[in-house]
Order: sequence, then C-alpha cells, then structure tokens
Amino acid sequence: MDIFKQLNKKNSAHRYCDEAPHEFAERMMMTVNASAVALGLSVGVETGLFKIITSLKEPKTSVEIADLAGLKERYVREWLAAMVVARVVDVDATNDTYSIPKERAPFLSEGPLNVVAFTKLVPMLCEGYDNVLACFRKDGPSGVPYSKYKRFHQFMDYMSNRMHTATLIPEVVPSVPGLSQILDTGVEALDIGCGSGRAVLLLAQRYPRSIFYGVDISDEAITHAKSEAKRLKLTNCNFLVHDATQLPKRWSDNFDFVMAFDCIHDMARPKSVLSEIHRVLSPGGTFAMLEINVHSHPSRNIGNPRATDGYVISLMHCMPVSLYFEEGEGLGTMWGKEHIMKSLEDEGFGDVTAKPSKDTFNLIFVSKKKSDS
Ligand SMILES: C[S@@+](CC[C@H](N)C(=O)[O-])C[C@H]1O[C@@H](n2cnc3c(N)ncnc32)[C@H](O)[C@@H]1O
Repeated sequence: MDIFKQLNKKNSAHRYCDEAPHEFAERMMMTVNASAVALGLSVGVETGLFKIITSLKEPKTSVEIADLAGLKERYVREWLAAMVVARVVDVDATNDTYSIPKERAPFLSEGPLNVVAFTKLVPMLCEGYDNVLACFRKDGPSGVPYSKYKRFHQFMDYMSNRMHTATLIPEVVPSVPGLSQILDTGVEALDIGCGSGRAVLLLAQRYPRSIFYGVDISDEAITHAKSEAKRLKLTNCNFLVHDATQLPKRWSDNFDFVMAFDCIHDMARPKSVLSEIHRVLSPGGTFAMLEINVHSHPSRNIGNPRATDGYVISLMHCMPVSLYFEEGEGLGTMWGKEHIMKSLEDEGFGDVTAKPSKDTFNLIFVSKKKSDS
C-alpha cells in the first residue's frame, strides 16, 4: 500500500492538476463528442464508406457515394454530415459534394497507418453493455459470458491479423533469443488462447520444419483457424478446442516454445494456465507472452495513451468474461508489468524479462522453464 501512496505523490503533478473548472467541463464535453465521432468512424469502416470515399478521383454527391457503396442515400447523407462536422470528410457546399483529402486517406483506409480500424471495438464492447451494468449491482451476475459478444472473435481476428502480420516475424520472434534458430531447425511449439490462429498460421508458413499447436476454448475461433490452415494448405499446424487450465497430460515437458498473446488476462484462472504452460514446456524451454504495456497501478498509467481504452476494454469485456466463470479471477487487461513479472516468477519461470514492442503498445515477456524443473 505504501508503494501506491508513493506513486500517487509522484504523479500528483500530472497535467490536469491546475485545470480550472470550466476547462474540466470543456474537456468532458470534448470527450463526449469524441465518443460520438468514434461510433461514426466505426460505421464508416463497417459499411465500407471510407474505402469508397478515399478512392474517389473527384468529389461526389451523397447520391453518387451511396450508389457506389450500394447503400441507402438518406443514411449515407446523415453519416456524411456527421463526418463533415467532425472534420473527417470535406464538403463543397456549392455543389453538395464530398471528398477526403489525400493526406488523410492512409489513416482511414486499409494499410499499416489505418487508425480508424480500432473503432470497430466500440460496437463490439457495446454488445455487453447492459450485461456489464447488471454486474455492477451487488445482487447482479458475477460476469458476462463470451457468447454475449457476437462480434468478439471476428474483431479479434481482424485486429490480430493486422498486428501479427506487421510484428510477429519481423519483431516478436527476433526479440526472443535463439527462437528463430530453433524454429528453423524444427521443434514443437504451442500457442495458448490462440483465437482464430493468426500467430500459428504465420509461424507455420515461415518455419515449415516446426510443428505448431494452437488451443482455445472457443469453437468458433478454432473452426476459423482450421479452415484458414486448410486454405493455406498447411500441414504443420494443429488446432484444438481446449481449456488451457487442463492441457493434455501427454504434453508434459513437450514444447520447446510456448506463446500466449494478449490472452492470459482474459482467463478465468490465469494462475492455473501459467502453471500448465510451465508443465508442458520442456526443461530450458522458452515462454513468450504479450500483454499491454502498462503498470499495475492506475496512478502510474496517467498520460499513457493506451491506458484509457485499456481500462475501458477491461471493464466492458476482459474482466467480466473472466469473472463469469466460477472462481474467475477477473485480472483485467491492465494487470500490468509488476503483477505479470511476479506471477511468472511465482509459477517458477526463470530469467524473466520484459521488452516493449516497437510501437511501445505492448510488452513482450520472455521467460524460461529452468533446466532442473
Ligand atoms: C483477447 S483473445 C486473444 C486471441 C489471440 N491470442 C490473438 O492474439 O488474437 C483471448 C483468447 O483467449 C481465449 N481463452 C479464454 N479463456 C481460455 C481458456 N481457459 N483456455 C483457452 N483459451 C481461452 C478466448 O477464447 C480468446 O480467443
């Protein structure tokens, strides 16, 4: 507790401490506006309207844009109006035509700079809104089942495809000492909470001599992973619907490499999962875990641009899906570096290190199962 007091003191001089009341009110109003804009942006992404407008050679009317998109003009016009006042889309009031300047296009369309794709998160989180509100009540339910979030696996697949394609082979693999070499030679590797299998699929293509396993409790995600493996004609990957707290007994001391990306915090019983990971690793084997780059106490996360959405994502999804299960721990997305390092050490992992990813959004924790374990 003393540590937290110290931290609070250290952070008491944060940037809003001398904010006047009217400035606070203004900032809250801007936040409300920004949340409305985020919802509008997600509509632009989902309907494909950004794709169409960013590819226009010249400005077009709402009728022309709606026709190109195959959508109803009245809805498109209202959305365009919202985007105009949000200064995302430009309007020529004389001709009633709309366009997006070239300089803005890369941030609104498919590609590495696309920042609006993340707004798909808003409707996904809202699927559980009423359920999460009910959980707040003392006599309310303990958590929310995954099944309430119908878009979750689709959203995760989209985001993890983007992230893993950009970073897994060029950045994450080289950050784990010796990993590329052993995967090249040919080992067995396991991905825990693999979702729709994007990481396994990429690794299986790049390292054909190694055999990859992916486990997840979701039927939907594993079915998708299997169909992608078939489409890519991959024979060195296997996907299983399985609870990571009870991995197959025959897997003891089996894997030279185990990974868990963005998922330990979601688990109902993360301690049991870490203990199972430790069991199935071969002595001297490596465990790589990716989690959001934050501290364990909120006072140390003020000013971190990922922190606000991290806590809200946690509140609206990751924590309640964990608490839904009996004895669910509800760690939350923001359990943070200090807590993670301690949890790994408590489960017997050695040589624990944490390195930020290139974009600094995530931390890559690398640890070993001690050779004498
Ligand atoms: C946030 S997603 C991450 C998915 C994937 N690792 C990625 O990078 O896209 C968390 C995943 O953990 C899975 N999960 C949650 N509890 C699990 C458990 N006990 N055993 C196995 N998978 C679990 C969920 O079904 C979900 O696919």
